[in-house]
Amino acid sequence: MTETLEVTEILKKYSTRIDQEIKEALETVDPETLRQASEHLVKAGGKKLRPSLAVLSAEAVGGTVKSALKAGASVELIHTFSLIHDDIMDQDEKRRGKPSVHVLWGEPMAILAGDTLFSKAFGTVLKSEEDGVPPELILPALHTIVDSCVKICEGQACDMGFAERLDVTESEYLGMIYKKTAALIAAATKSGAILGGGTPEQVEALSEYGRLIGMAFQIQDDYLDVASSEEDLGKPVGSDIVEGKMTLLVVNALEKATPEDRERFITILKEEGDENVSEAMEIMKKYGSIQYAWQVAQEDVNQAKNLLLDVLDDTPARDALLKIADFVLERSH
Ligand code: IPE
Ligand code: IPE
Ligand code: MG
Ligand code: MG
Ligand code: MG
Repeated sequence: MTETLEVTEILKKYSTRIDQEIKEALETVDPETLRQASEHLVKAGGKKLRPSLAVLSAEAVGGTVKSALKAGASVELIHTFSLIHDDIMDQDEKRRGKPSVHVLWGEPMAILAGDTLFSKAFGTVLKSEEDGVPPELILPALHTIVDSCVKICEGQACDMGFAERLDVTESEYLGMIYKKTAALIAAATKSGAILGGGTPEQVEALSEYGRLIGMAFQIQDDYLDVASSEEDLGKPVGSDIVEGKMTLLVVNALEKATPEDRERFITILKEEGDENVSEAMEIMKKYGSIQYAWQVAQEDVNQAKNLLLDVLDDTPARDALLKIADFVLERSH
């Protein structure tokens, strides 16, 4: 608990500067409706995990906060774009404790608001030059961020496709969450390490750290979807079950359940409403799927932490990155 509180403080530390970068990127958007729709989720808040990781990665390799601030803002813009479009795809009406963008402005404007954030992200990282970052570092950082965007789209397409199937394997699921979630988190840590002037070995380790905690992050997100409350999460709970999404919990329970339980579980996944979400949870508990997913995620977190110990000096930034790795599984929102 104390650790979680401390991480909340770490994430708050750079929030104001990141928010300022994002505000500057969006304040010229015209017409006003598009600007308001684009700013809505930014104003609603969010944990700021990804930009904090970018900045901390730069600091952990001996660079400045400033060197990775715009890359951090860029990654947060991409993340927020993906949330706007994700809520349209998942038909979720709440995000960051507020109505989703498409609920307030309609789907066409929400698509444009997402596209606006996405486009602004690239201008923002390119402006790192204004902060004294050499272009020869900006270019590889930009490449990393661009690659992750393609992966988000591929991962989201797999996520939708998997909801139509019942034979998704664990390995397919892991590939899907790497693309939809972990790739952007890895882009945050990798671009931060590049811009901070890290050695190739440090850049590689921080990239892999980001990938591993990103995998654990999505597994925990899937768990919170069935185990948390809308009040804590600021987004609907049970949404994955209602949409028939293939999470590690679901894939594992489908693999292990008796034919009768499997049939009942499939019925719940296929039905529209959320009245049987707790029964689905009971089935996943019965087959140890909750515990199993937690173990997989915990292994990723442990491996991520070990990688950092190998290549980084003992600094407050490294300490913060180690704490964030644990926070990924301790968090309740
Ligand atoms: C939610 O990400 C989307 C996932 C990739 C699971 P976050 O939980 O980081 O969302 P915010 O930014 O704090 O709202
Ligand atoms: C998040 O997956 C992936 C992206 C936003 C790219 P989810 O659909 O599980 O995210 P939440 O739970 O809606 O935040
Ligand atoms: Mg969603
Ligand atoms: Mg989704
Ligand atoms: Mg989710």
